Amino acid sequence: MKGSLLYEGKAKQVYRVEGEAEQLILSYKNDATAFNGKKKDQFNGKGRLNNLISANVFAYLHQHDVRSHFIKTLNDTEQLVEKTTIIPLEVVVRNVAAGSIVKRLGLEEKQPFDSPLIELFYKNDDLNDPLINDEHAYLLADVTEEELNVLKRMTLTVNTQLRSLFADVNLQLVDFKLEFGRRQDGSLVLSDEISPDTCRLWDRETGEKMDKDVFRQGLGDLVDVYEVILQRLEEKAHA
Ligand code: TMP
Repeated sequence: MKGSLLYEGKAKQVYRVEGEAEQLILSYKNDATAFNGKKKDQFNGKGRLNNLISANVFAYLHQHDVRSHFIKTLNDTEQLVEKTTIIPLEVVVRNVAAGSIVKRLGLEEKQPFDSPLIELFYKNDDLNDPLINDEHAYLLADVTEEELNVLKRMTLTVNTQLRSLFADVNLQLVDFKLEFGRRQDGSLVLSDEISPDTCRLWDRETGEKMDKDVFRQGLGDLVDVYEVILQRLEEKAHA
């Protein structure tokens, strides 16, 4: 049964589970934020869409031997997950130049990278999630060099799997962000969410942006776009 609120973030609430110390309930909110919370709004249905999309993606990854904290969907907006200690890193993979790297390094948007490019950000709202290097990660994120290499390998595996999943539903996976948690036995596991809030997805035919950039850049109706992503994934899952 759902226990007390443990933590509230910008897009999710985290609840304890009564009698199950090793599990948590993630409750997806309708809030959308961008630019470290400077831009915000609420969209009816967004929580449901991200909950169901993220569940679908984690289920696909499980089928392809990529483990995560995801256990099962509980209802439209909530999922049961394994409790882990979050590693304060945002591991970003880029297949094509877009977003912050375009501004930071003066690249052309849409320029593809020959091989996926990994960037690390330190998860710290007060510092605005700065870009960091590996040595900063050992210092700040309580990970060893070996563990960081494991995280990077897992991230590249997820990229390969997700590129294929999204290509099958006519979407190009431009970039995305992963987070990892540590289990009590010390092992590292994929955590948080994988949704159009945390990925850039472009329609492979029209090039249309089908992710949170719709909100960040004011391009249209975020819920309509997320609904299309869910529909395409569900059609594929049932095909
Ligand atoms: P960026 O281009 O803004 O650095 O974002 C790279 C990817 O990471 C993009 O797919 C969106 C995702 N992302 C998050 O999930 N959370 C964040 O706070 C930020 C800044 C990006």
